[in-house]
Amino acid sequence: MKEKYLKLDYENILAFINKDSLDEIQTEVSRAKNKLDNKSGLGNAFLGWLDTVGNYNPDMINDIIKTSKKIQKQADVLVVIGIGGSYLGAKAAIEYMKSYFKLTSKTEVIFAGQNLSSTYLSELIDYLKTKDFSINVISKSGTTTEPAIAFRALKILLEDKYGETSANKRIYATTDKNKGALRSLADTKKYKTFIVPDDIGGRYSVFTPVGLLPIAVAGIDILKMLEGAKEAKDTYLKEDIYQNDAFMYAALRNLLYRDKFAVELLVNSEPKLNYFSEWWKQLFGESEGKDGEGLFVASASFTTDLHSLGQFIQDGKNIIFETIINIDKPEKDLLIGQNKANLDQLNYLKEKSIDYVNKQAIKGTRLAHLDGKTPNMMITIPKISAYSFGYLVYFFELACAISGYLLGVNPFNQPGVENYKKNMFALLEKPGFEKLTKELKKKL
Ligand code: PA5
Repeated sequence: MKEKYLKLDYENILAFINKDSLDEIQTEVSRAKNKLDNKSGLGNAFLGWLDTVGNYNPDMINDIIKTSKKIQKQADVLVVIGIGGSYLGAKAAIEYMKSYFKLTSKTEVIFAGQNLSSTYLSELIDYLKTKDFSINVISKSGTTTEPAIAFRALKILLEDKYGETSANKRIYATTDKNKGALRSLADTKKYKTFIVPDDIGGRYSVFTPVGLLPIAVAGIDILKMLEGAKEAKDTYLKEDIYQNDAFMYAALRNLLYRDKFAVELLVNSEPKLNYFSEWWKQLFGESEGKDGEGLFVASASFTTDLHSLGQFIQDGKNIIFETIINIDKPEKDLLIGQNKANLDQLNYLKEKSIDYVNKQAIKGTRLAHLDGKTPNMMITIPKISAYSFGYLVYFFELACAISGYLLGVNPFNQPGVENYKKNMFALLEKPGFEKLTKELKKKL
């Protein structure tokens, strides 16, 4: 039998759930899988990500690769403007793949429009003044306020620097094919555009131009990434949770949630995954947190956070379970040397590698947390690569869809995101919000 690319070890969960409940949840998992296969579940208009993986339009991929090369020639910096699903996938991939201290592409990829910090934008504008830069503005709706504000500011800078005609050739817009303010602007100014498919929501859009263009500009092999996603798609076809780790993961987290473990902590021991955790938090948080349901998703990086959150995980209220992502082989490793005087008392580690120490720390932590009644499971992938990134993304996307259906929610909408927007618009006195403006002003 072919060795599994991704291994799920859930031994340390079994003390907290019984075998019968696993057998019972199988029926629910099968029902959820049917809903996905037949496109009959809630949010079924947003299942394009399932069909797309493995069936990419070659013209679209070639266009992305060609454009990424053009941007690399044209710019020292590509500013990617977007928020939520129009930002996190690309950011996660780039942080996962890039070197900690060296630029791995001729073009540095910087993100904007993911916050409303005036200091962030001001400092970015200062930084860009001496750089050749281009912009990839990404918004599916084309109307999101944060990226729109950042785009307005950076477009002015670009036009001042290159003149309007040349600036227009440095702007790449990724948006809906027909609607939204960004679409109208792009059509008027004749920007090069890429389309966000109607049937793919923001948090499921890594494998569309939303993620692919910035990732390609960062010098990452997007074809390898898509290969990894396809391999995952071909792997997780069976409905039996014992033969499908994506479904087993979804089942386990739901069983823990139905007990008292309402918080899932995604843990890494390689900080290159920190933004992968941010992407994962958006995927699960936005997909499941609704109708009064949902696991609260959080993240940690070990061993760093063992010196902060570790106390709570070990000893605090038993509401947390951990899902640890383990990288089997580090990209680089080094041996701990010997020192004759041994004043630092580390000679017991001589000739041991740092990765070996890291792995023992994780093993020890898992046992300690088990003693502290914190269930934990571990997902192991062979190494950091574009391929493993694609594989992991698909694994979690599929698990999230199944998990959302197990919870009984629509995993593909995000109604709660609108509430803050309404209040913000009212307080900013946007036309159309007059009634709410009055109501809120009374409360303030
Ligand atoms: O996952 C989602 O759908 C959201 O997080 C959106 O991506 C986010 O709100 C940005 O939306 P838009 O791409 O329309 O600007």
